[in-house]
Amino acid sequence: MGREFPGPPVGGVESQLITGGTMTTEEILALALAMAGLDEVPADTAIYCPGEGIRRILVGIDLEGAELILAKERGFDLALAHHPAGGTAVLRMDEVFARHIGLMVEAGVPEAVARAAVEEKRYEDRITGQIRNYDRLPALARLLGIAYMNIHTPLDEIGRRRMAEAAAELAPHAIVADLIAHLCARFGEFRHALTEIQCLVGDGRNRLGHVAVAHGAGTNGGYPVAKAYFDHGVDTVIYIHCQPAVAKQLAREYGSTGKNLLVTGHIASDSLGINPFLSALGERGLEVVPLGLVPPGGG
Ligand SMILES: [Fe+2]
Ligand SMILES: [Fe+2]
Repeated sequence: MGREFPGPPVGGVESQLITGGTMTTEEILALALAMAGLDEVPADTAIYCPGEGIRRILVGIDLEGAELILAKERGFDLALAHHPAGGTAVLRMDEVFARHIGLMVEAGVPEAVARAAVEEKRYEDRITGQIRNYDRLPALARLLGIAYMNIHTPLDEIGRRRMAEAAAELAPHAIVADLIAHLCARFGEFRHALTEIQCLVGDGRNRLGHVAVAHGAGTNGGYPVAKAYFDHGVDTVIYIHCQPAVAKQLAREYGSTGKNLLVTGHIASDSLGINPFLSALGERGLEVVPLGLVPPGGG
């Protein structure tokens, strides 16, 4: 059920990535960027411990100390995490959060409003980055002698596009419940996950209207980003997760205005972006073992 992910473009960078069943960490990162349509490595993505001749990969949303030791013991060549795990990837989150600006502007939010909506969180990120024990896990990987990297925004961008494409398939008069049903029908990740797609603001019977998928920008946009969308023509905002206090405040202010906030579930939605990438690695002859991901496809 559901449509297959179309995959990366053929030729160019892509043709150089077919390496007879092994890849380097650089090639793996280049593949993710190509699939996401990005030409720069986002600040929340890094190779902590480079490797080459990689055949077996352990992939998880969070791969930390225990998982690194497991990966080494079980003979994996690479531990590939989704969430940032160290180095510059945990220090410069404010740069990635700024991606919300582009998404908001694309949806019709004036640029000055969009910039103001992310300012407070970016300020906080610049300060809290200093708290991080940034070399703890990279140092462990170096000591163990295992390649280690994380790919965050490129894979979230793949997931964001998939959700946005699915939303665009619905007619303008569709209701919120239709979108929830369509996402579940299209993507096994939402059917298989233990979480459900929740409508935290508004109502399933509301008109869907203009939909914005606010994902692939480090983390959800919180109250200010959702408010900016609602105030500037977006009727339904999709986050993959949301703080309860934020949902409550938005529901108080917008709950009776026809506006809607959906949360699609963190791990299901991360898996939605990660799985097409794992398929692409598999097509290149690599053995990929997912740890704690929600599987795609199937009934
Ligand atoms: Fe993610
Ligand atoms: Fe995540």
